Amino acid sequence: MTEKRRRRDRRIKPVKKAVFPVAGMGTRFLPATKALPKEMLPLVDKPVIQYVVEEAIASGIEEIIMITGRGKNAIENHFDRSIELEHLLLQRNQHEVLANIQEISNMVDFWYIRQKEPLGLGHAILKAKDLAGDDPFAVLLGDDVIQSDDKPGLRQLMDVYAKIGASVIALEEVPMDKISSYGVVDPEWTDGALCKIKGLVEKPAKQEAPSNLAVIGRYVLTPSIFDHLENVKPDSKGEIQLTTGLNALCAEEPVYGLRFTGKRYDTGNKMGFLVAMVEFALRRDDLGKEFRDFLKNLKP
Ligand code: G1P
Repeated sequence: MTEKRRRRDRRIKPVKKAVFPVAGMGTRFLPATKALPKEMLPLVDKPVIQYVVEEAIASGIEEIIMITGRGKNAIENHFDRSIELEHLLLQRNQHEVLANIQEISNMVDFWYIRQKEPLGLGHAILKAKDLAGDDPFAVLLGDDVIQSDDKPGLRQLMDVYAKIGASVIALEEVPMDKISSYGVVDPEWTDGALCKIKGLVEKPAKQEAPSNLAVIGRYVLTPSIFDHLENVKPDSKGEIQLTTGLNALCAEEPVYGLRFTGKRYDTGNKMGFLVAMVEFALRRDDLGKEFRDFLKNLKP
């Protein structure tokens, strides 16, 4: 290893913290989400948010900062201990279920911060400033569930960060007729799965999209993003967009995009949610075969 490389590696801090913005109202899933946070909708028997938390932990995250809002207490309860339930399961000798329930609450350290008003993704992330401190941190959006048999989605970004010490954003090529649902990057150059990002456009019209590379809900960011977010002006809806902050970051320091490997499920829309539910059920050892037979025999 050269002296230059050694010095650079010493400067690159490990990513240990992750921010989960979970204050969104979930209006696309009403009435199911009137009293239940959308993050708690289950894929088979596990809430969507737990898949994403498990991905963060499998990637090496040690602290999770949830940015919550009104009506989101179920998320806090889910990752907390439930002494009464544990007691009941013990009495009933349901040891396997008990171990599973206990594992959820022992997963990692959780912090909760309330976002009092829905002022956008950038505003939610800004709420984590004091807890994130001077360290690089990850952001995971709960709607995007990534299934990867190889390396967890976030870990792929963290590995790039560990090498280059610059912000990295997860990207996926999407069909142009879907591009206006995403933040879209303008790549300066592309080298295999990696690209250097020149700028980003939030939800552009098809003809104005700078590429077909959409931002997926996984980011590793340097703490300088906070200074930029503090200066972002609210958009026409009064929201502080993360994409605007990222654009300012790109102008000041290198920001990279990574086309990750694995399958992404957009559980934030009904079709994506159904696809995820069916595929996750088919993958289960205890249900997969029976469910596959049921689907095969389904009459049109
Ligand atoms: C957010 C981001 C967008 C990104 C998307 C990924 O949008 O603003 O840049 O492409 O997440 O899921 P949302 O889906 O919250 O409207």
